[in-house]
Amino acid sequence: MAAPAHGRIIRTADPIALAEAAAERLLARIAANDGAIAICLTGGSSPKRLYALLAREPYRSRIPWARLHWFIGDERFVPAGDELHNMTMARQVFLDQCAPAGNIHPIATDVASAEDAARAYEQELKSFYGAERLDPARPLFDMVLLGVGPDGHVASLFPDYPALGERERWVVGVATAPVAPKVPRVTLTFPALGSCHEMLFEVAGPDKRAILTRVLAGENLPANRAYAAGETVWLVDKSALPEEAGGD
Ligand code: 6PG
Repeated sequence: MAAPAHGRIIRTADPIALAEAAAERLLARIAANDGAIAICLTGGSSPKRLYALLAREPYRSRIPWARLHWFIGDERFVPAGDELHNMTMARQVFLDQCAPAGNIHPIATDVASAEDAARAYEQELKSFYGAERLDPARPLFDMVLLGVGPDGHVASLFPDYPALGERERWVVGVATAPVAPKVPRVTLTFPALGSCHEMLFEVAGPDKRAILTRVLAGENLPANRAYAAGETVWLVDKSALPEEAGGD
């Protein structure tokens, strides 16, 4: 069966089953770490169902909220509170109800530029991590969530953009996005996103079938260049899978 360049596919029946499987994987990662836990969230519409589940039973009371720190893999450079702002969506759907305010780590967008925001967030990540360089034996994040855009982008790492080749910086500013919303972005780079015990892609719905077909054909897309120091898992629902890969 066709496969992504890194990791393995877990197929689910529908988007609801996919969100439940994502929640269970998140709980398993939490159970594996009895210290401070770092989760890197993603924007877009793909993770919303998972976020909503986490705020409800039976998940909510199984999560040790005081030990969990919530970061974001990319942000649109718009004010907090704007409907396009990724962390605002996560706050509204679950974080503000469940997480201590000090454990929510947004990318600041009330600074002069996306580049300034990137530098500040890189410092925040380094101070949380406690070192200036990433050690492959000690990942930054317990879990990194990702969605895939229609052009194969992940976070705000777009095809053919110079940020794809970044090996030193943990976070960079992106002046323009080639897809909507066409606002500047701030994004973690591959080395920072990959510094995790688990990278979990969520891909659901027939709208994703075209891009998933390209990913599974092994095209050189950002989505095929993102992988974890630990495990890389693609949670895909049946309607997003191309027919030859077991879709409807
Ligand atoms: C963003 C995202 C982006 C997103 C994909 C998938 O800020 O736009 O983080 O990388 O995850 O574009 O988006 P959907 O889930 O909305 O399809």
